[in-house]
Amino acid sequence: MIRFLLNKREIVLQDFAADLTVLEYLRNQEGRCGTKEGCASGDCGACTVVVASPAEGGLSYKSVNSCITFLGALHGKQLITVEDLAVENELHPVQQAMIDHHGSQCGFCTPGFIMSMFALYKDMPSGADRDHRRRMTHEYLAGNLCRCTGYRPIVEAALASTEQPRSDQFSIDEKEVAIKLSEISDHDSLDKGIGVEAFLIPQSLSELASTCLENPSARLLGGGSDLALEVTQQLRSLDSIILLDQVKELRQVKRDGNRLEIGAAVSLFDCDKLLQTRYPQISELLQRFGSTQVRNQGTIGGNIANASPIGDLPPVLIALDARLKLQRGEQTRVVIAEEFFVDYRKTILQPGEFISAILLPLPFEGQMFRVYKVSKRLDDDISAVCMAINLGLDRDSQDEIRINSARIALGGMAAIPKRATKCEEILQSAELDASTIDQATQALDEDFSPISDARASAGYRIQVAQNLLRRFHFEVSDNSIETRVEHVA
Ligand SMILES: Cc1cc2nc3c(=O)[nH]c(=O)nc-3n(C[C@H](O)[C@H](O)[C@H](O)COP(=O)(O)OP(=O)(O)OC[C@H]3O[C@@H](n4cnc5c(N)ncnc54)[C@H](O)[C@@H]3O)c2cc1C
Ligand code: FES
Ligand code: FES
Repeated sequence: MIRFLLNKREIVLQDFAADLTVLEYLRNQEGRCGTKEGCASGDCGACTVVVASPAEGGLSYKSVNSCITFLGALHGKQLITVEDLAVENELHPVQQAMIDHHGSQCGFCTPGFIMSMFALYKDMPSGADRDHRRRMTHEYLAGNLCRCTGYRPIVEAALASTEQPRSDQFSIDEKEVAIKLSEISDHDSLDKGIGVEAFLIPQSLSELASTCLENPSARLLGGGSDLALEVTQQLRSLDSIILLDQVKELRQVKRDGNRLEIGAAVSLFDCDKLLQTRYPQISELLQRFGSTQVRNQGTIGGNIANASPIGDLPPVLIALDARLKLQRGEQTRVVIAEEFFVDYRKTILQPGEFISAILLPLPFEGQMFRVYKVSKRLDDDISAVCMAINLGLDRDSQDEIRINSARIALGGMAAIPKRATKCEEILQSAELDASTIDQATQALDEDFSPISDARASAGYRIQVAQNLLRRFHFEVSDNSIETRVEHVA
């Protein structure tokens, strides 16, 4: 059994297909056709809905793509769709702003934009200045595509609606909804039968461990932003799913000496917030990871476990010498991140084993860390090449820079995310100067034999990787050279 709120109405489902998406449920079973299907792969935002969950002081409202969200993942949450925003004949402020600013022509994308604007409206800190509001607006709308209106009126509508965020009907009902959602969780934590036979919802780490052992062929579900595509794009059926979202231990972050222990089910959105001051470069990368919807859904563990050669976080974790905590039954082991990846989409995970946490070393004295993502678009695009460079540097009295330690990892250059070992050898214990960088860029040619595919040719990939190393050198040695593309405010 799963229970959730569809706006204020409680839904209890005893029986549903494990791989039924929220979009299919809304359109086919609830007759809520305001939520549109465009791409069914998380790319266009036409299917955006908002999911509210209990958070400190009330609820947190997150936009997600309903086409790649499985229905069972709504257990204990409130689902809000475009049909819920207007009260009787009065439009929600985001809807009114869309009309006032002429933000809709054919209207196909409009419900999706409205829901992203609604999430923005709920998240906007009061007193945010115009620059801050514009930055957040671009961030929250980057996962929605419009093919006819053009983005300026839509952005203007979003800005206008957040100028003076007022309380809406959701703020008025928030406490009541939060209580109701906690009741669902409390009630169900006493009830062993959470989920249905094919959609299992363990509530603790030990329950997850035993559920995985008992169901070794069931698929683990983080945010589903990869897994759901097997259903919607490859038209496979997933008979049995284990949800990670309700396992509190997997959503925690702890400090362990000079490392952070990040639970595998921490969302990419939360990772971004967590790392903003410690590793602003990772945060910058995460802001270009998919879209707000994808970052709200996707988890750090999912980005590692899917073992994609073009996943953004694996090169970062390898370069930073992160470790992964794995668990199978009661047995746990800690492995070096780079040893996790065996071959194209193959990992060392055994049947019934899962990633429980990521152990991320904190920055150290003299560390120079950079990560560069090269993709065709700035937002919502997968990397052609992603390069993470982690050097330990010593500056001597003549202002020369010596490299003490070098770890460099790249995505998009091989069947797995991989270290550039020959390049590292050149850098290790050398002066950080133009001649060392020249030799190191040549070594990248020996380290990798990338393939050509739809994203980039092999030659382009090598050239880009070499240029990124040169760019790193410019950035650490000469601040006057412009190397960055910024969002236009
Ligand atoms: C529109 C769109 C844009 C995207 N953009 C990017 C991008 O810019 N960069 C990028 O790197 N990726 C991108 N992705 C891919 C995806 O969002 C990420 O890989 C994300 O981190 C996956 O996390 P998830 O929790 O959604 O994984 P899920 O889909 O839930 O799971 C992925 C796989 O990992 C397994 N799994 C999940 N958690 C665990 C665990 N704890 N232990 C063991 N196995 C586990 C699942 O069984 C599944 O096989 C994008 C995807 C979409 C749809
Ligand atoms: S239909 Fe395009 S993101 Fe869901
Ligand atoms: S209004 Fe037609 S696609 Fe946006």
